[in-house]
Amino acid sequence: MSMNLVTLLYLVASVCFIQALKGLSHPTTSIRGNIFGMTGMAIAVLTTIALVHGQARALNVDFTTGIAWVLAAVVVGGGLGAFMANKVEMTKMPELVAFMHSMIGLAAVFIGVAAVAEPWAFGITAAPVAAVVGARTPDGAVLFEGFVRHAIPYGNRLELFLGAAIGAITFSGSVIAFGKLSGKYKFRLFQGAPVQFSGQHMLNLVLGLATIALGLVFVATESWPAFFAMLALAFVMGVLIIIPIGGADMPVVVSMLNSYSGWAAAGIGFSLNNAMLIVAGSLVGSSGAILSYIMCKAMNRSFFNVILGGFGGEATTASSGDKEQRPVKSGSADDAAYMLSNAETVIIVPGYGLAVARAQHAVNELAEKLTHKGVNVKYAIHPVAGRMPGHMNVLLAEAEVPYDQVFEMEDINGEFAQADVAIILGANDVVNPAALTKGTPIYGMPILEAYKAKTVIVNKRSMAAGYAGLDNELFYMDKTMMVFGDAKKVVEDMGKAIE
Ligand code: TAP
Repeated sequence: MSMNLVTLLYLVASVCFIQALKGLSHPTTSIRGNIFGMTGMAIAVLTTIALVHGQARALNVDFTTGIAWVLAAVVVGGGLGAFMANKVEMTKMPELVAFMHSMIGLAAVFIGVAAVAEPWAFGITAAPVAAVVGARTPDGAVLFEGFVRHAIPYGNRLELFLGAAIGAITFSGSVIAFGKLSGKYKFRLFQGAPVQFSGQHMLNLVLGLATIALGLVFVATESWPAFFAMLALAFVMGVLIIIPIGGADMPVVVSMLNSYSGWAAAGIGFSLNNAMLIVAGSLVGSSGAILSYIMCKAMNRSFFNVILGGFGGEATTASSGDKEQRPVKSGSADDAAYMLSNAETVIIVPGYGLAVARAQHAVNELAEKLTHKGVNVKYAIHPVAGRMPGHMNVLLAEAEVPYDQVFEMEDINGEFAQADVAIILGANDVVNPAALTKGTPIYGMPILEAYKAKTVIVNKRSMAAGYAGLDNELFYMDKTMMVFGDAKKVVEDMGKAIE
């Protein structure tokens, strides 16, 4: 395959990736986005195989064994990926993504190690420094390239160091993030609660500087021991950076690791002189960084605040300990159904609890019944409701809620004051008026202004706090009625009562 054709196909794949990102920004276009992504990836993989085939033929190297390994890996990896993606529950998605990132990081490390060991096989233009053994042609050219020790150019060494180091941090950091998100493992480092000790930040700084120093030794001398020592420190750093961060902050961390994995791939792409890897890696790197920024902004937290850890560990319960018990008004699902069916306008605020209860289908049915009775039903979506970006949009789309009923925070906040009922289903922080009070941990976080509605119905299982561990004044307001219970059961009961 000619290089021009390869470049053209890589360009087509890059455009597909850009279209994929664009499509994934809205539920209505997300399927198209996914198709673009898959098409781009298929083009990129097939083109690369064809490119390597051509290079192998030119070097007279055996291609069949190598490609057999690659295809076997594609079948096993692709099969496992498809199986896991099919099986995963929506609330477990961040965990799956963390697992995938760990694989990308590990792949970057393996490629880095292989490229340092055999640069010629990766097309790194390296000058031979020692032709050890092997046949030579009469004019002195080396026939057995594999026996020749090559010096990797300085620029490539730097790229390999950066790619492999970022890959190692991404791998071990993602493994810890996976453990924290799953919450299933007894191992202390996999617990949701932050692991903190004195001098932690100083230790991270020293390790970071040592990693850079060893990397620079590798760049200067191409020393294997320095390269491996640098990798070992990078693996340890990945663990140390993530353990002080609480389990609930992990989605931001996963998005940050996503960004790292992209930069690692781009770094390796520079070393391998592969434009596709550079473009795809940069797209992942920059989109992950932008997503982390958007998430931090919507939570009103600085990126450093998340990274330096602590916040977002096990949520404290508002009613636990020696906290005073304050009275709240509570009612049954039947009471709520009566209020809903007599309203003209109802705004539904879904939150993390709705996802946990998998109540999205029940909510859609309830909304359909209300609409049938002439009630104007709208959904209000907070950008960080749930535990991953777009969590609520995905849930509602899964239940086939009509898109024209779904509104983003800035579009619906002005309507709460006119709404007869705001019904909050498994949401807490995203409607907490504490965000308006100076000095609270969530001060400044934009919230859905449900407290302005004429009547507020809140469904949750207890008076426990949400992710930020804060009490919520909204629950104690005169116009608020609490309906305790699992969201799915409560919403189904409301639906039956409306019938
Ligand atoms: P939260 O503030 O976490 O509150 C969820 C509430 O759901 C809890 O108070 C819980 O109370 C209730 N709940 C749990 N299971 C339930 C069930 N089966 N049925 C009914 N209720 C149930 O959720 P939110 O309002 O969606 O806010 C999201 C929070 O996560 C924000 O603080 C945000 O900053 C943070 N966060 C979001 C993201 C992204 S990207 N979305 C990433 C990281 C962090 P009970 O236990 O009493 O039922």
